[in-house]
Amino acid sequence: MNILVIGGGGREHAIIMKLAESPRVEKIWCTPGNGGISKYAECFDVGATDIDGVVTLAEKLSPDMVVVAPDDPLVMGMADALRAKGFKVFGPNANAAIIEGSKVFSKELMKKYNIPTAAYEVFTDSESAIKYIKEQNTYPTVIKADGLALGKGVILAQNEEEAVQAVHEMIDELKFGKSSARIVIEEYLTGPEVSVLSFTDGETIVPMVSSMDHKRALDGDEGLNTGGMGTVSPNPCYTDTLAKECMEKIFLPTMNAMNAEGRTFEGCLYFGLMMTPKGPKVIEYNCRFGDPETQVVLPMLEGDLCDIFEAVCDHKLKNANIKWKSGSCACVVMASGGYPLSYPKGLEISGLDEKGQVDGAFVYHAGTKLSDGKFLTNGGRVLGVTCTALTLEEALRRAYEAVGKISWEGAHFRRDIGQRALKAQTDPLALDYKDDMEDYIESNGVYLRQ
Ligand code: AMP
Ligand code: GLY
Repeated sequence: MNILVIGGGGREHAIIMKLAESPRVEKIWCTPGNGGISKYAECFDVGATDIDGVVTLAEKLSPDMVVVAPDDPLVMGMADALRAKGFKVFGPNANAAIIEGSKVFSKELMKKYNIPTAAYEVFTDSESAIKYIKEQNTYPTVIKADGLALGKGVILAQNEEEAVQAVHEMIDELKFGKSSARIVIEEYLTGPEVSVLSFTDGETIVPMVSSMDHKRALDGDEGLNTGGMGTVSPNPCYTDTLAKECMEKIFLPTMNAMNAEGRTFEGCLYFGLMMTPKGPKVIEYNCRFGDPETQVVLPMLEGDLCDIFEAVCDHKLKNANIKWKSGSCACVVMASGGYPLSYPKGLEISGLDEKGQVDGAFVYHAGTKLSDGKFLTNGGRVLGVTCTALTLEEALRRAYEAVGKISWEGAHFRRDIGQRALKAQTDPLALDYKDDMEDYIESNGVYLRQ
């Protein structure tokens, strides 16, 4: 198989490394790729959202399969355009990618099919939104832009002033362009968050091993929201009981709902879940692999990713052999100083070795560029330093050991990735008993969201 992968971050590096393990894979191409990816895949300079450019490139290369990894091209219809030319594509068509592309669509879907999620209302004018906020008078309250906003379109407003400001910025000032012309105001939920990626061909859905993201920029879940500063897998809050409940109440109903709407989803469907005192609820859907979740989930995959992707494309997922390794995986993101606000680019990275100079470690490149044999920073999130081991403690210890060997001017990373997971691991309640959970959340800081 010759495979073309669209995208150029840590997630795509992880997908490419896993595909490269397959004895069936001969050649991998990637566009636009990055410095780290260029060692494994021939990279091109066609942008990930350039649909015509990617179709032209695919026609030139004739890949046996195209993997469209990022959200924007999927929501824009890149998978449709490639399928129309006869390519085998891993990734949903636009009419299914809307599950991420429009929060209003996903909330209405969940309401119609009784899939548990936060209560909500939709608004297109700021006056009625503000009236509603004042009537509700409960804080925090959650304000979300309808469309894609680079992961920044969610405001957890702590008081009326913040909520009113968020509404004005989104609807009146179009802070996120037309993505925020329509907003969702929803109930604030509490509980541990769990990310579950799944493979689905519309007939079968197979959840992957669970993971936990760390979205805030600073230690202790302080600072601004980011694309994700680190991940661990599996997520110890996600017990077998919860997994079963999610399958019955969330995963299967979502696949079936999309089919019933004539929007069959084929690809990786991501469930952002919160284990609330009232049971698991959907916080968000994504139409693609998560980043940096993929960097800890795919190293745990025992099987052949190329076979699984092909099974999804051919609607034969029910026959696929999907197994997970035991042990844990941890990923610590090293970011540019200043991220998620403005940051410099082009700084030389030192101490960089793809194995992180540590047993079991691997460095996924997110924003790097190879220039005259040197790796330079080229984005906000620069590296995902990852390690698998028999225990989470060991995976974290070695991932941080590898982080300690890598540096550039202003490099920034969280020092507490996995700490919450370690605490959850040793907790006897393990969140299996929902009735106890409310008390537990109140009495135990580890599950209190900031
Ligand atoms: P999203 O971009 O939808 O993933 O939201 C970003 C983050 O905001 C999530 O990971 C949650 O931590 C938080 N969040 C989103 N919706 C809610 C909610 N209804 N209640 C509490 N926190 C939320
Ligand atoms: N890490 C969250 C996401 O990929 O959306």
